[in-house]
Amino acid sequence: MSLAEQLTRNNIKGLVPYASARRSMSGGRIWLNANESPFANEYQLDSSVLNRYPDFQPPELIQAYANYAGVEKNQVLASRGADEAIELLIRTFCEDDESIMICPPTYGMYAISAETCNINTKKVPLNPDFTLNIAEMEKHKAGVKLVFICTPNNPTGSLVSHEQIKAVLELFKDQAVVAIDEAYIEFSPETTVAGWLNDYPNLAVMRTMSKAFALAGIRCGYTLANQHIIEAMSKVIPPYPISWPVAQIACQALSADGIARMQSQLEQINAQKVRIEKALTELDYIYEVLPSASNFIMFRTEAKKALFECLIAEGILIRDYSSQIMLDNSLRISVGSQAETDALLSVMQAFKA
Ligand SMILES: Cc1ncc(COP(=O)(O)O)c(C=O)c1O
Repeated sequence: MSLAEQLTRNNIKGLVPYASARRSMSGGRIWLNANESPFANEYQLDSSVLNRYPDFQPPELIQAYANYAGVEKNQVLASRGADEAIELLIRTFCEDDESIMICPPTYGMYAISAETCNINTKKVPLNPDFTLNIAEMEKHKAGVKLVFICTPNNPTGSLVSHEQIKAVLELFKDQAVVAIDEAYIEFSPETTVAGWLNDYPNLAVMRTMSKAFALAGIRCGYTLANQHIIEAMSKVIPPYPISWPVAQIACQALSADGIARMQSQLEQINAQKVRIEKALTELDYIYEVLPSASNFIMFRTEAKKALFECLIAEGILIRDYSSQIMLDNSLRISVGSQAETDALLSVMQAFKA
């Protein structure tokens, strides 16, 4: 055993890191495995400030997020992607002997971040129709300090109803922060709960610029919550989390023009999504296409392995979820550009199971 292995914390020794799309698969010419946007947009950069540390929380950026989300400036914390917000929430709120609660199948980083911090994860699986099992959540609520709920949910594409979110906020009132992951909210904007911050002191909402805003490459996300939660998280976040280039680019993306461009790109993505959904429904080797409130589509096929490999051979990368709870035979496709959809569908239509 190397010295490093001997010295590594016990909870890290057995940790299996998140198999992100970029880390687990390389190559390929068409990337439909990370729910990214197919659009690469152009930005202006002012390099005259790069010799200086950036602001702790760049004021223009915080104002832009607040305007966009319809909240106050003191209800926003900018972070390096929503992934950093997940870890900050855990590090801010969970004591060593406390737990987070998650409802799988859902985004994998909640449990991995908790494990990294040596915090236990209580898993309460979704119901077969992908709604929350609130009775089970109640049964297991002891010791839970933080609940993660993803809506639209990655990887199922399903939504959690407002009624259920309210029930969870009530259930954990005075006990736990309920973090609603709205990474894909632009694809179902009417379902946001950002307007509830003043009603629920235990509500936090995580957002990202990585999806609809097409900025996965700059690592930029934000949390919305009441000012007390934001102040607590601000104690834990590193001193200069948002670099100047990131702040500049995100501000441009959140300008009126930037938001209009995002919306027009979103319409194009939605048009391709409708095309893919229709085409998949017509393929006889696919027995279920799950309805999606997001920019990805989950479907089930007995031929998952052969199809997955056939697509890789054609340079098209999608994501295999078939080993996860409730996701037998499931593959997920991120919706790409028209040309990417053409290529995807021509391979899938020619595929023989
Ligand atoms: C549900 C969900 N939350 C958070 C993230 C992380 O987002 P970010 O790129 O802002 O770290 C992702 C990324 O795929 C996601 O799917």
